[in-house]
Amino acid sequence: MSEYLWAEDPPVGSAPKPPRDMTSLSSSSPDSATPIVVVEADPSIRSRLAMQLGERAVPVDSLEGIEARYKQSFLLVLGPSCVVGATGAEDMLARRGDIGAILITDDLSAEVFQQAMRSGVRDVVAAPVDTGQLNEAVRRVTQTLQPSAPMVSAPGVTPGAEGDPAEGGRVITVFSTKGGAGKSMIATNLAVLLAQRSEGTVALVDADLQFGDIAVMLKLAPQHTIVDAVGSFERLDQGFLESLLSTHQPSGLKVLPAPLEPAFADQIVAEQVNEIVNLLRSFCSYVVIDTPAYFNEVVLGLIEESDDVLLVAGMDIPNIKNVKIGLQTLRMLNTPMEKVRLVLNRANSKVKLEVSEVERTLQIKADALLPSDVIVPQSVNKGMPVVIDAPRSAIARSLEQLADLFIPSNEAAAPKRRGWR
Ligand SMILES: Nc1ncnc2c1ncn2[C@@H]1O[C@H](COP(=O)(O)OP(=O)(O)OP(=O)(O)O)[C@@H](O)[C@H]1O
Ligand SMILES: [Mg+2]
Repeated sequence: MSEYLWAEDPPVGSAPKPPRDMTSLSSSSPDSATPIVVVEADPSIRSRLAMQLGERAVPVDSLEGIEARYKQSFLLVLGPSCVVGATGAEDMLARRGDIGAILITDDLSAEVFQQAMRSGVRDVVAAPVDTGQLNEAVRRVTQTLQPSAPMVSAPGVTPGAEGDPAEGGRVITVFSTKGGAGKSMIATNLAVLLAQRSEGTVALVDADLQFGDIAVMLKLAPQHTIVDAVGSFERLDQGFLESLLSTHQPSGLKVLPAPLEPAFADQIVAEQVNEIVNLLRSFCSYVVIDTPAYFNEVVLGLIEESDDVLLVAGMDIPNIKNVKIGLQTLRMLNTPMEKVRLVLNRANSKVKLEVSEVERTLQIKADALLPSDVIVPQSVNKGMPVVIDAPRSAIARSLEQLADLFIPSNEAAAPKRRGWR
């Protein structure tokens, strides 16, 4: 597919910006905010198509789990690697009039066209496709979509947020482009709260492969790490993966720790981490992922795979500068901005920087504000998440509010709540 030619350069970010929380839309009519899922196995074609389609395009390599993730109307753009008549979308397209599909094909013959129409595809476009032609097809097909069945959801909570394992759990990546911003503290505490609240299994993956410290923060002495999962990749299945997870007894959280030696990180590639996360989401309600403070292949793969990306920023100028660059990078990579949630850490500090100023600079509203509190390093040093060590502290309450975005505390499974003391 390397000879695949593109008719023009994509207009980055030219598509209309979707509302920040598409789930809170009361109307379920398809419109210019309808998400577009680009399905293509070839990574370069996939990202190019996504760039042509602008901010609301979500690039994926297969159809797996898509219907579960998008309960409302959406558009599928099937790239040239999708075999017409065997795309796997036929059944879904036949059942749901609120999903539209456009096929892009290298071979626009009458036969392919007929087959595509029989499969429920609403438009077929020959490759190479130019941006105008593609967006025109998107506009046409969007107009033909039927409204989705109405659905009610709690404010700020994405449909499917309960992470029903039957539909694939929700993947939440905690990321920052600044070291020491508080990623690991937030990932551990959020994962512990979700484990306490959720009826299903919750997993925490330490994808800071060189310097991960989740195991230390949770006072675990792991028998296995992600290296064992990768080392036996060929025979990795649910049972085997479960046997590699360490249990954080006070909360029931399942943890896949980072390698014990930084050198082992080189043995792990992005595709393997993504497959492990996919396997975890097949039996967990939530998979929370901690990451290093820079973009690498593993982080990019995880961001693409995630339902939510918690972007953590501290309240100082270098932090904001780096996070702004991180946000620009995410936009350039066509990460759907509605899945990015800004978390401002140490937000009460008297640092002469206002939250509103930071939001204006970053052009994104903060979804959570976490205060600075000396109890945080104290709990880290005890190996106890602060939400267990000091549940009534202001920082613990703010972390509870962050967890409310995923499982409102009034819906939490009360009997599963466990405390350290
Ligand atoms: N809200 C807070 N109040 C006080 N201390 C905090 C707060 N958040 C984080 N810290 C402290 O800051 C330090 C860095 O936090 P953490 O390890 O979570 O950051 P990180 O982003 O994961 O860092 P790295 O990039 O090194 O992985 C820790 O010692 C932690 O205790
Ligand atoms: Mg960390």
